Amino acid sequence: MSETITVGLGERAYDIHVGAGALARAGDLLKPLARGVVPVVTDANVAGIHLQPLLDVLDQASIAARPVVMAPGEVSKSFAGLEKLSGALLDLGVDRKGLVIALGGGVIGDLTGFAAGVLKRGVAFAQIPTTLLAQVDSSVGGKTAINASQGKNLIGLFHQPRIVIADTALLSTLPRRELLAGYAEVAKYGALGDAKFFEWLEASGAKALGGDSAAMVKAVAHSCRMKADIVARDERETGERALLNLGHTFGHALEAATGFSDRLIHGEGVAIGMALAFRLSVKLGLCPSQDAERFNRHLKAVGLPFAIADIPGNRPAVDELVAAMAHDKKVSDGKLTFILLKGLGQAFVTCDVPLEAVKEVLAA
Ligand code: NAD
Ligand code: GLY
Repeated sequence: MSETITVGLGERAYDIHVGAGALARAGDLLKPLARGVVPVVTDANVAGIHLQPLLDVLDQASIAARPVVMAPGEVSKSFAGLEKLSGALLDLGVDRKGLVIALGGGVIGDLTGFAAGVLKRGVAFAQIPTTLLAQVDSSVGGKTAINASQGKNLIGLFHQPRIVIADTALLSTLPRRELLAGYAEVAKYGALGDAKFFEWLEASGAKALGGDSAAMVKAVAHSCRMKADIVARDERETGERALLNLGHTFGHALEAATGFSDRLIHGEGVAIGMALAFRLSVKLGLCPSQDAERFNRHLKAVGLPFAIADIPGNRPAVDELVAAMAHDKKVSDGKLTFILLKGLGQAFVTCDVPLEAVKEVLAA
């Protein structure tokens, strides 16, 4: 079972190929884009598992692939990581009209996309996402970035990939915690704009997480379709694309307050953040409490955290969380942007949220 979704961006349009075993087609799919030496950027964890099969199919297609292996984790999404990667790409002699491949999770995709975007003023890149989070979110839509000491993803640019190949079979080697964290972004699509998809997730989400290949392909493809449609309408996030940040204002603050550590990984922060966005929406009289409870029930059913109390260790202080929110990219004209909900599948963007209500939700 496989699906192809087009991100409709005119002359920069590209396809997302979703399927169990899609990697086997990577040679054919990438051949028209390859020119000269083609670096395959990955991290040491992914390199040990999925690099060789990719190199083999590229070799069969006579693509001169050369691996570049980065350290796993956010540490590589840094100026130092960018310097190391850019140096490696230049040493390999990447052609200005050539191609760079990102094989990995969101860290590798964001770093490689950014490096490709600035290398020789922009070279093409392909995304081969290997985490669920990357398959349903970060590999699609062209947001690329590294982190600064002032915060996450603050140095970046929009640089769309030329193709995305999302092989759901690669997810079988992902640690359960990472798989679940990615699933938070899948649930996000149901919550933000598609109640029927959420209903399907309630029935089949656990099956997808449990290894049912058809269910996982459907979950990934549907998520990608929703993101592709939103990106096609609002590539630069002047409006609707902000809906994709559901749960992220709270989530990033929680990640910051827990030191971007193992206590809370990104998708877990998003899961709790979405639950807080529902709670805030209920508090403001915007959303029926049954919808918020139903959302929490689903997160709990699949094994995701949904409350600040679920984070191990000391509870982050409300003031610390509010201060972290003030540093978020989503602050505009000094006002915090929140994605709130009128119900399941009905998210909207607002800058008009009383700080007291936010504090009460964070303290509850
Ligand atoms: P990640 O890239 O760090 O991957 C998580 C871990 O899984 C890493 O240790 C990695 O080595 C390992 N791994 C990856 N694939 C594997 C596989 N198939 N089998 C076994 N191990 C595997 O993290 P992530 O959750 O994929 O991405 C998080 C990053 O994505 C953050 O930096 C976040 O800011 C970014 N992000 C970007 C966007 C965007 O639109 N660009 C959207 C969401 C998140
Ligand atoms: N992950 C949010 C976006 O791509 O806009």
